[in-house]
Amino acid sequence: MEMNVVCFSCNESHGAQIRTVSPSTKTTFGYVFQRCAVAGKEARPMNEETRGDISIEEQVPLAPYTTFHIGGAAEYFTSVENIEKLRKAVQWAKAKKFPVTVLGGGSNVFVADAGVRGLVIHNHITGREIVKEGDAVLLTIGAGEVFDDIVALAVSRGWWGLENLSCIPGSVGATPIQNIGAYGVEVAERIVFVDAYDKETDTSVRLTGDACLFGYRDSLFKHAEGKRYIVTRVTYRLSKTPAPVLHYRDLAAWNEAHKTNELPTLTEIRTAVCAIRSRKFPDWNVLGTAGSFFKNPTISDAHFSALLERFPELPGYKTPEGVKVALGWILDRVLNVRGYRSGTVGTYEGQALVVVNYGDATSAELETFARDIAQKIFDATEIVVEWEVTKLS
Ligand code: EPU
Repeated sequence: MEMNVVCFSCNESHGAQIRTVSPSTKTTFGYVFQRCAVAGKEARPMNEETRGDISIEEQVPLAPYTTFHIGGAAEYFTSVENIEKLRKAVQWAKAKKFPVTVLGGGSNVFVADAGVRGLVIHNHITGREIVKEGDAVLLTIGAGEVFDDIVALAVSRGWWGLENLSCIPGSVGATPIQNIGAYGVEVAERIVFVDAYDKETDTSVRLTGDACLFGYRDSLFKHAEGKRYIVTRVTYRLSKTPAPVLHYRDLAAWNEAHKTNELPTLTEIRTAVCAIRSRKFPDWNVLGTAGSFFKNPTISDAHFSALLERFPELPGYKTPEGVKVALGWILDRVLNVRGYRSGTVGTYEGQALVVVNYGDATSAELETFARDIAQKIFDATEIVVEWEVTKLS
C-alpha cells in the first residue's frame, strides 16, 4: 500500500495562526475568507472576540457565504479549519445553549431574512490524503475543501469515478449530506467512509457508506437521527481503470457527436460535463442561485400513466418506489414558466428547475415564489413537490 499525504491545512503543517478576514477575495467557487498569517493578508474584523483559539464574531452577514446571495446575518459566527476548533466551537455553543448551524460552500441553501439564531460554524476543514491500493485510489478529503478541486485533481491523475460530477459548486462536506448527483452518477456510489464529529458524545466517528443511508438527494445527515453529526472528512473510492458513464441523455448526445474508436478520456468527459452545465446553469458569481430548487418527484405508476395520456413526452425514470419525473420538463413544457420572473426571483431561461435571484431578492420573496410555483405544479399535475434546497434560519 502506497501512502501519499498530499497536503494538510496550513495551520496543521506549520502552525500558522488563521484569522477571519472580510469576504473580499472571490474564487471561481466562492469567497476566500481566510488567510494564513504566514502568507500575510490577514485582517481582524470588528466585533471579533477571541475565545481560546477560536474566534467568534457577532452579526455576520451570511448572504456572501452562499451562492443564492439571500438572507440575513448569523447571530454568532466562526470559521473552523480543523476538528479541534470545530469541537471547541460546538462546546462553546453548547455551554450557552445556542443552536449550531453548519455552513459549507453555501451552494444548496438560502438564509432567512431574519438571519440564523445561535452559532453558525463555517466548516473549512481542509486536508487531502491519498492511498493507492492496486487499481483503487482512496481519497480522504477535508469537508471544507472545494469539491470541484478534488474532481479536477482526480481527472488530472487519471482516477475514474467523479468526472460526471464536474463543475458542481460546493464543498466536500456537503457531498454526502446531499448525495449530490449529475449525469448518471451519484456521489454515494463513490463514498466509502464519512468521518464526522458527534456533537452528542463529543467524539469523532467513522460511518461507512451503508450507514449513511443514501437516497436521491438524501442521507442520514438530513434526518433527525443524523443531526448529531458534523461531517469532517469524506473518503471516496476511485479507480484507475477507465469506466466512462455516458448513458445520461445530454452526455450520450455529446458522445454520439464526438464518437471515435477510442473511449473518451477523463478530461474530455469533464470538459463536456462543464460545457453542458454552463448552458443550463447561470454563473452564480453573476446571478444568485442554488441550482435545482425542487427535487424531481417520484410518483406512482398509475399517476405517471395518467399524466402520460395528457403529456406523452413527459420524461420519467422507473425507480423501485415508482416513477421519477423530470420536473424541469413540467415547468417548461406544461406550465411554460422557463425564464418566468416575479420581481427579483425567477426560473432560469436555460433550465426551468433552476431558481435565480435576479437582484436583491429576500428570502420572503423567494419562498412566496416557490410556493406559487409549487401550487401551479399541483394544479396542473397533482404532484406535490419538495424543496431540494435547505433554508437556514
Ligand atoms: N427539461 C426541459 N426544460 C427545462 C428543464 C429540463 O425540457 O427547462 C427536460 C430536459 O430536456 C430533460 C429533463 O427535463 O429531458 C431533465 O432535465 P436535466 O437533464 O437538465 O436534469 P434535471 O432533472 O432538471 C437533475 C438534477 C441536477 C443535475 C441534472 C443532470 C435534481 C433536482 N436535479 O436536473 O442537479 O445537474 O439532473 O444530471 O435532481 C441539483 O441537484 O441542484 C442539480 C443541479
